[in-house]
Amino acid sequence: MKLPQLFVAFALAALGQLAIAAPTATTNETDLQYEYIIVGSGAGGGPLACRLAMANHSVLLIEAGNDQNGNINISVPGYQAVVTQDPKLRWDMFVNHYQDQERAMRDPKYTYEIGPYEYHVGPDPPADATPLGILYPRAQALGGCISHNALIWITPHASDWNNIAQITGDNSWVATNMDQYLDKVYEWLPTEPTDPTILLNDTMLTQHLAGGAAVMGVGPDPLNAVTGLANTLLNDPNNRANPARDSTQGFYQIPLIMNAGTRTAVREHIQSTVAQGYPLTVRQNSFVTKINFDTSGSTPAATGVEFLDGEYLYRASPLSGGTGTPGSATASKEVIISGGTYNTVQLLKLSGIGPADELQSFNISTVSNLPGVGTNMQDRYEIPVNVQHGNDFNILNGCTFDGKAHDGCLPKWENNPYVLAQRGAYATNGLAATMGVNSKFAADSDIDLYIFGGPVDFTGYFPQWGDAAVADHSHFSWYTLKAHTRNKAGTVQLRSADPLDTPLINFNYFDTGTTEGGADNLDLQAMVQAINMSREALSQYYDYSILLGDSFTEQEPGPAVQSDDDIGQYIKDRAWGHHASCSCPIGADDDPNAVLDSQFRVRGVQNLRVVDASVFPAIPGIFIQAPILMVSEKAADVILNG
Ligand SMILES: Cc1cc2nc3c(=O)[nH]c(=O)nc-3n(C[C@H](O)[C@H](O)[C@H](O)COP(=O)(O)OP(=O)(O)OC[C@H]3O[C@@H](n4cnc5c(N)ncnc54)[C@H](O)[C@@H]3O)c2cc1C
Ligand SMILES: *[C@@H]1O[C@H](CO)[C@@H](O)[C@H](O)[C@H]1NC(C)=O
Ligand SMILES: *[C@@H]1O[C@H](CO)[C@@H](O)[C@H](O)[C@H]1NC(C)=O
Ligand SMILES: *[C@@H]1O[C@H](CO)[C@@H](O)[C@H](O)[C@H]1NC(C)=O
Ligand SMILES: *[C@@H]1O[C@H](CO)[C@@H](O)[C@H](O)[C@H]1NC(C)=O
Ligand SMILES: *[C@@H]1O[C@H](CO)[C@@H](O)[C@H](O)[C@H]1NC(C)=O
Ligand SMILES: *[C@@H]1O[C@H](CO)[C@@H](O)[C@H](O)[C@H]1NC(C)=O
Repeated sequence: MKLPQLFVAFALAALGQLAIAAPTATTNETDLQYEYIIVGSGAGGGPLACRLAMANHSVLLIEAGNDQNGNINISVPGYQAVVTQDPKLRWDMFVNHYQDQERAMRDPKYTYEIGPYEYHVGPDPPADATPLGILYPRAQALGGCISHNALIWITPHASDWNNIAQITGDNSWVATNMDQYLDKVYEWLPTEPTDPTILLNDTMLTQHLAGGAAVMGVGPDPLNAVTGLANTLLNDPNNRANPARDSTQGFYQIPLIMNAGTRTAVREHIQSTVAQGYPLTVRQNSFVTKINFDTSGSTPAATGVEFLDGEYLYRASPLSGGTGTPGSATASKEVIISGGTYNTVQLLKLSGIGPADELQSFNISTVSNLPGVGTNMQDRYEIPVNVQHGNDFNILNGCTFDGKAHDGCLPKWENNPYVLAQRGAYATNGLAATMGVNSKFAADSDIDLYIFGGPVDFTGYFPQWGDAAVADHSHFSWYTLKAHTRNKAGTVQLRSADPLDTPLINFNYFDTGTTEGGADNLDLQAMVQAINMSREALSQYYDYSILLGDSFTEQEPGPAVQSDDDIGQYIKDRAWGHHASCSCPIGADDDPNAVLDSQFRVRGVQNLRVVDASVFPAIPGIFIQAPILMVSEKAADVILNG
């Protein structure tokens, strides 16, 4: 049993060493010259860097984190929660859902610092604890957050793209044209759903899923629940052959970014591009602190970046403390910032691009006064209904989710690398299937609710949330993600002028954010509807009692929470998000808050673009990695072909 495990780890490590040289910088480097410099190797920066290099341009891809090659936390889909706790990748960012701290503290996930990277979660903190807010997991690593995310692959809606075309008048954004970039992504990204036989082998889980399917009108005949559900689970939520796909409600299995049950995405794409000999240089363990400009002409032009070489320099990392070795690099063509929704804003502002008054308050001289940088930030809202059974789910037998020797589910995953069905529970991300719903409160016919069912105890993010989610094997969660939210009131502001400090992040949830036209209440009511539907699925579970699953008790929101008002309060107190985006929006030429033009160019300067989750004017689709990867491919096309 040990041998194959070692072999897999060895093979992966060997591949990585071949592909990407370890950082060796011990002296200040200042003569690094490339055509393109890209900051951040995640969803936005990674594929773009690969495409530019494949076109024979010399590209420097700078990444704060490093290549976690062979780290099973990343490769095992079942470890998607625990990987967000791995100190080698994680950045602990804390955000405010509400600026009123008393209101924010109604969330039991509210977290305080009690020592360096030691936290108290929930009410009654020790007297000297420092309030922090709500944990927002982020990753520093080759592949960015894609290397630690939940793997869910849902393509965007046509309206997401058509909206950008309409706002900017740039017709290259229309959905029919954007489709080619999805093809480009599929050239290197494998996706596949969990093998249904893994799920259906657990009859209690099957019973729950049958209940969810029943709510969507596709519940199987109770006498043939297992085979009936197997057919339902063949439905593909991304089906490109269905012209009405964006508004097709139903019960779906969840496609994941994996190959035969192993997470495979941006990290592997970068490795393979380097291995093929394209002129792509990855500088890992390097933190960019400033964009340099040539201000001699009439318009400032980006010429390169300043960085600090060193592992784990950013203070969000629990391994931070080092100060790094300074260096710089120049780009003869362009600098592209892909640091993600929070860090792109921080880096732009530190470099003099942002609201002049905010920059002035930190004595940063303004290069381009763009009031929209760090505004317009958006996210989903998410909320669960959780129940606990007397019995455990069979599918989780032996799973300890920690990669230790006693983890009974890991050998099965390791010893069956080629046959998905035989890899067991760890070849899933733990969420088995989803209801896709167009709520009564949606602005149009697009699906705006995904309600996921899985054998977990998921209540959102807080330190060690991953351990809590799988601490026992008897919980089940119907967990809602509200898409196409209307709140555009999120902000990212500098905390200090020190690049290694984290920024201040405010989401301004519900009634403290966008309220125009009842926006906040429409989002809230859609989520109340989702909780109703989750409870309906739990009640339909009992119609399939032939499968012999035992009874359960509701823990969250709990039986006492019944009226729409009480459910609404539960949602306002405890909702969270994890698709932060839109903080450097593309917009029309006459929009003073537009940060980018329709070709990702930062307004007011030359040779500088932004390509990541922050570019969207409105949060796209249901899940965000697919639209970001498409945008990354589009940016490459725009840069290479004008
Ligand atoms: C827990 C979790 C689960 C998720 N699950 C899903 C999911 O299932 N499906 C889905 O579609 N989306 C999911 N997401 C969201 C998705 O992964 C992210 O939105 C996406 O990766 C963002 O892409 P990005 O390119 O904007 O930023 P990132 O992927 O965060 O990449 C930014 C990169 O830039 C680097 N960087 C930042 N600043 C600097 C600097 N100054 N110098 C050098 N490097 C820097 C960072 O280290 C990072 O690697 C999840 C997110 C989280 C946190
Ligand atoms: C690197 O540069 C910094 C200041 O820019 C300087 O203090 C330091 O001594 C230099 N280190 C080396 C190894 O040259
Ligand atoms: C890149 O350069 C190589 C070697 O010079 C050449 O064979 C190849 O055709 C070039 N590719 C592109 C896309 O220009
Ligand atoms: C996986 O992450 C956990 C923390 O969540 C960490 O303790 C463990 O060392 C990591 N495993 C590997 C192989 O790095
Ligand atoms: C199905 O479950 C049984 C009992 O839990 C287990 O022994 C068997 O290996 C499982 N089969 C598959 C294909 O997962
Ligand atoms: C900005 O500069 C002024 C004058 O030098 C100084 O008084 C002030 O403290 C500085 N502010 C910050 C935030 O560094
Ligand atoms: C939720 O269910 C309750 C009870 O059936 C009903 O009165 C209410 O209208 C529903 N709310 C929404 C938003 O669907």
